[in-house]
Amino acid sequence: MSAEPGKRAAAEAALQYLDAGSVIGVGTGSTVNVFIELLAWDKGRVRAAVSSSEASTRRLKDAGIETVDLNTAGPLDLYVDGADEATRHRTLIKGGGGALTREIVIAGASRTFVCIAEASKLVGRLGAFPLPVEVIPMARSFVAREIVKRIGGRPTLREHVTTDNGNVILDIHHLGIDEPVKMERTLNDIPGIVTNGLFAIRPADVLLLGSAEGVQTLKRG
Ligand code: 5RP
Repeated sequence: MSAEPGKRAAAEAALQYLDAGSVIGVGTGSTVNVFIELLAWDKGRVRAAVSSSEASTRRLKDAGIETVDLNTAGPLDLYVDGADEATRHRTLIKGGGGALTREIVIAGASRTFVCIAEASKLVGRLGAFPLPVEVIPMARSFVAREIVKRIGGRPTLREHVTTDNGNVILDIHHLGIDEPVKMERTLNDIPGIVTNGLFAIRPADVLLLGSAEGVQTLKRG
């Protein structure tokens, strides 16, 4: 396995949160792909996975791991996923891979959300990474105008992308996010927005930041 050392270190550290034979939630992205590779090496480790994207579902199946629907799985003990930005308070920006809606649903359905990321993703203030927002296609222009009116920034359409749910993504540039919970709520109030990429109302419970030097763990409490 030739993953960047930070991704691999964070993914390996997440293995300690797994209960043998359990059904877990699995997110999307290059760091999660390393985690899936690790699961593939040790097949009995999980019984099955609820996947946050079609891309991860394919990878899980290729790795010989059964995938199940969230409706059949019920509440999950553990969700493992990456992030585009993270703070010490474990608030996140996610959705760089476009899977934010299923990600926020699975995070909400899970008792423990373990976020795995390279240490470079840690920021003092969220917003340098453009904030993804999943939008119903017919509402795209209206939503973009409302975003500018309510929170500012510069929403741009992510070209040639349709989400697994058949929607489009606006990426909001030039935001400095001082109150992530408030901004998450404000965005959720705009009709036509399905999900925004702020994970602040439900932050990660554990943040594992990997680098060549090792793993920094930030936990609730
Ligand atoms: C996908 C995500 C990913 O977790 C996020 O983009 C991080 O990806 P990577 O591990 O490739 O840096 O939110 O929607």
